Amino acid sequence: MITVNRIGKHCGAEISGIDLSQPIDDDTFAQISKAFFDNEVVVFRDQDITPGQQVAFTSRFGTLEPHVRKESRLSGHPEILVVSNIVGDDGTPIGAQDAGRFWHSDQSYKREPSLLSALYAVEVPVQNGKVLGDTEFASTTAAHDALPEDMKRRLQPLRNVHSYVHYRAKNRRAQLAERERGASEVTEYELSESQIQTVPDSEAPIVRTHPVTGRKGLFINEGHTSRITGLPRDEAERLMTFLCGHITSPEFRYVHRWRRGDLLMWDNVAVQHKATFDYRLPLRRLMYRTTVRGTAPF
Ligand code: OGA
Ligand code: MN
Repeated sequence: MITVNRIGKHCGAEISGIDLSQPIDDDTFAQISKAFFDNEVVVFRDQDITPGQQVAFTSRFGTLEPHVRKESRLSGHPEILVVSNIVGDDGTPIGAQDAGRFWHSDQSYKREPSLLSALYAVEVPVQNGKVLGDTEFASTTAAHDALPEDMKRRLQPLRNVHSYVHYRAKNRRAQLAERERGASEVTEYELSESQIQTVPDSEAPIVRTHPVTGRKGLFINEGHTSRITGLPRDEAERLMTFLCGHITSPEFRYVHRWRRGDLLMWDNVAVQHKATFDYRLPLRRLMYRTTVRGTAPF
């Protein structure tokens, strides 16, 4: 039997009574899966798992997808994306150094965006007894439900373009500004033309129906959305600013304070997330991410 304790207002729960390094029977897995989709973000504390065990557990939710950032994949485990600020002796980052600078959901720019992600905390930065590098979440379903009816109706026919190329350009501008202030030592990674061709822009409805729960959520985010289609530019920009601000307002948020050994999973249809970069080397942060493929938004 697993135990589920809600820890956030609109999303977030702790699941206990399970050791993810051990095989899990179908009945227990069904309970975990239900708790996950009900709560949108769940954490399993004090887990001691290998990359192979993370792959085995998370692939029960669906097909795992290697990230387009080839050089950030864990060697021997292409399904695992290394998210870390650690740099090797030759100056090469061992993983993605600045994943999640803007509010986003993972791979929302794909024709079939990720259904869920799992992040396992191998090392967390601690300074004077305080853990740094929180991850923030915002429930897009709660944000949708809280909108006035006339706004829901206005949004119903509207679509938005999610673009990895747009995200990279925006991220690069932010990186350059930080480097100029001496506030960051993040190194930009290069993507080849053929890698870029694997991530063309895609268009999705702003109001999206969850493929598992049937709940409606807002599928538009500040990291990946390049534009809203079919509206005059000014109006589109005002609407986008309003919606992104609404989704990420404190009311709909859960802030995850990490502990080493946390396996945190989030539903990329039901929530958006954002990293907090309040730590720097020599404080080290090392996380392993797996991502389950989803279905085309409707
Ligand atoms: C991610 C991500 C945020 C963080 O791994 O997808 O956005 O706090 N991470 O590491
Ligand atoms: Mn992310």
